[in-house]
Amino acid sequence: MKVLFVFGTRPEGIKMAPIIKEVEKRHTLESYVCVTGQHREMLDQVLEIFDIEPDYDLNIFKKGQSLTEVTTKTLIGLEKILDELKPDILLVQGDTTTVFAAALAAFYKKIKIGHVEAGLRSGNIYSPYPEEANRKLTGIVTNLHFAPTENNKNNLLKENYPKENIFVTGNTVIDALKYAVRDDYIFEDETLNNIDYNKEVILLTSHRRENWGEPMENIFSAVRQVVEERENVEVIFPVHLNPLVREVANKYFKDLDRVHLIEPLSYLPFSNLMNKVKFVVTDSGGVQEEAPALGKPVLVVRNETERMEGVRAKTAKLIGTQREEVYKNINLLLDDKRVFDEMAKAINPYGDGNAAVKIVDILETLDK
Ligand code: UD1
Ligand code: UDP
Repeated sequence: MKVLFVFGTRPEGIKMAPIIKEVEKRHTLESYVCVTGQHREMLDQVLEIFDIEPDYDLNIFKKGQSLTEVTTKTLIGLEKILDELKPDILLVQGDTTTVFAAALAAFYKKIKIGHVEAGLRSGNIYSPYPEEANRKLTGIVTNLHFAPTENNKNNLLKENYPKENIFVTGNTVIDALKYAVRDDYIFEDETLNNIDYNKEVILLTSHRRENWGEPMENIFSAVRQVVEERENVEVIFPVHLNPLVREVANKYFKDLDRVHLIEPLSYLPFSNLMNKVKFVVTDSGGVQEEAPALGKPVLVVRNETERMEGVRAKTAKLIGTQREEVYKNINLLLDDKRVFDEMAKAINPYGDGNAAVKIVDILETLDK
């Protein structure tokens, strides 16, 4: 059985890595890796950490390219590889444009598709945009749906996918997290080592397309006001490489000493940083899954989320992107110990760290 892993961005790499490593351990399946290069530096950081050497690199990266360019370059680039390699199954992970385009390329060649992190739904096709559509479009051509949670499985059942094709496995992000986080971790970067984590240290990340413009301005403006009003607060913000994000981040934070605008961190320092801070403010998907596992409250600066498990377990709170709401909710976590303690309980709604083993067990049972 030839398994071809295709991925293109940072989070896909992090979440695919545990499966690739598990396949390599078993020697029962032939494993091939193709990266599209939708991301470049941020993807290469992941390949290095997990010691993955791609067999194919479509290298489609171009700064500021459109969704159409990412889609068409991936489709065209994969066609040749699929003809040459003839994999028995192609695995994709998540909901990026790489995922949709790679699944479509495999479908055109009638190659089986396994979708890792299947069944997430926000219910709004424009939020997250374009990810909600990518997930649904990928689902249609998928043969094996690896759903992280029962809730994700139910979403797929509601869309009439046959239940024998859906497997609840947990999310491989927890497998990656278990590999990465150590309580005695020391950063290579002195700025991060020198921060006093007994202070009120907040980790901030934001990159979502539907937050570009006014919502992101609102979020950053609220965070700025908190920092200006509270001397004990420090914010660490590893800024996504998208120039549209960097411009707004610089506008609101460049002159503030207690806001540390840093380059995107590699996965080991990032996940260990999350383990040390007081709480997290984010619009990221992966970070919403990791923070609850580490017992870190997470304020989700979005209007809806496909990851309601953390919200129901009360470690995550969906606070929207209105300036006043963001300001109020950050202050609430800083002021009210009871609210903080209720959110700071470690829970594992997204998996137990054995998702990759479960997925590879299933792959091993497949007929060619
Ligand atoms: C993409 C995914 C999003 C995912 C995110 C993870 C799509 C449509 N979006 O969004 O679902 O949550 O990745 O981070 O698939 N850039 C670099 N170097 C890099 C990466 C990005 O310079 O290594 C800059 C480039 O200018 C690039 C821009 O960021 O054009 C946007 O990258 P792109 O992959 O189009 O979208 P993301 O916002 O990263
Ligand atoms: N991450 C990282 N370095 C950073 C910020 C995030 O390694 O500077 C990791 C994070 O731990 C998570 C993943 O990247 O596993 C999330 O990626 P991102 O927020 O870019 O995408 P999303 O999950 O929203 O698709």
